[in-house]
Order: sequence, then C-alpha cells, then structure tokens
Amino acid sequence: MVDVVMIRTYEQSKIERFAEYSRVPVINGLTNEYHPCQILADIFTYIEQRGSIEGRTVAWIGDSNNVCRTWLQAAEVLGFQVHVSTPPGYEIDGGRATGVGAARYRQFADPREACRDADLVTTDVWTSMGYESENEARRKAFAGWRVDAELMRAARPDALFMHCLPAHRGEEVTAEVIDGPSSVVWEEAENRLHAQKALLEVLLLGTID
Ligand code: NVA
Repeated sequence: MVDVVMIRTYEQSKIERFAEYSRVPVINGLTNEYHPCQILADIFTYIEQRGSIEGRTVAWIGDSNNVCRTWLQAAEVLGFQVHVSTPPGYEIDGGRATGVGAARYRQFADPREACRDADLVTTDVWTSMGYESENEARRKAFAGWRVDAELMRAARPDALFMHCLPAHRGEEVTAEVIDGPSSVVWEEAENRLHAQKALLEVLLLGTID
C-alpha cells in the first residue's frame, strides 16, 4: 500500500531481511551499524560550503559508530580520506569496514594527529541509541576525545565542524566549537530534509533535477 518504506531500527540484519521481501525501496533511517541518510546530508553540506569533497580529509573523533562507518563507505564511493581516532577498545571493527579500501582511512591513537590538516572535523555522541547501559564506562573512556578548540587548530584554518545532533555540549564537543565559526551543524540539520527529499525523488522517479 506504500511506495517507499523507511526504517530506523537496531541490527542492520533486520532491515536487510525486510528489504529482501519488499517490493518497494527500503531506506535505512539508521541502524546500529550504518546511517546513510545522515552522510548524504553531511556531504551535501560540505559541498554547499566548500565545493567537492573529492581528495579532502575528514577527521572522525570519538566512537567508531554507525555514522563513522558510513563516512568510510562514502570515502570509497566519492574518493576522500577519513582519519579516525577512537579510544583504545573502540576502534573500527574490521569486519564492518569491509569493502572500504585501506587507502581510504587511517586510524590514529592521538586525536590531534587525526585532525592534522583535516578539511572537516566531525564527531557524534559517545553513547549511541541502544548502548545506554555502557554510558558510564564510555564517559570515562572518551574523555580525551572531546572536540575542542585545540583539536580544531590542528585542522586546516578553513576546516568545518559537523555533528549529526543532538549533541552533548561539554562531552563530545565544547560549546566553543559547536557554537563557533567553523560549525555548520544547523545547516547540516536543515540539509537532512533536503537530502532526504532528493533521495525520495531518485527512488520514486529514478532521476534528480
Ligand atoms: N550515532 C547516533 C546517531 C544519532 C543521529 C545514534 O545511533 O544514536
């Protein structure tokens, strides 16, 4: 009875199973493993602000979560680099980065090194949906992975800051950064709407203006 289905759920396997039996397009609205709609909006925002993302460097600081993994997939498709820095024990799970060439991403123990000369610095909450029971342990483990002015200074002078929101000021990002001149989080949030309209247009009409 519907033309498109969008599902926000937990395990990626659930959405893949649903899609196997669906006669209409199924959009991943977020799973534990991936968040493609967010990355469509983020890349659209980057292009709007700075032009092509090809050949650029994106620094991902914090949890190697659904958003981070999808940045890696996009890097493979669009030809840019991702520098990932996570606390020990929270590194990218090799299996989940399958299909992403090693040339497209590098892991850094030190978040400052990951941000060096980056064109975009981005992060996310330390505890994603479904992992709330790990909250206390994560707050301790991630304390050195807060995006602050010092990390932004390691990036290029015109580097942007993005966050998929909602953010916790003072946890994964300082107020100075998220409310500062490099931050494009509100443009990014608005672009979720426009990117998703474009996605529906492509899925329903097979074309985009
Ligand atoms: N990584 C976050 C993204 C929220 C938009 C989560 O999965 O909760």
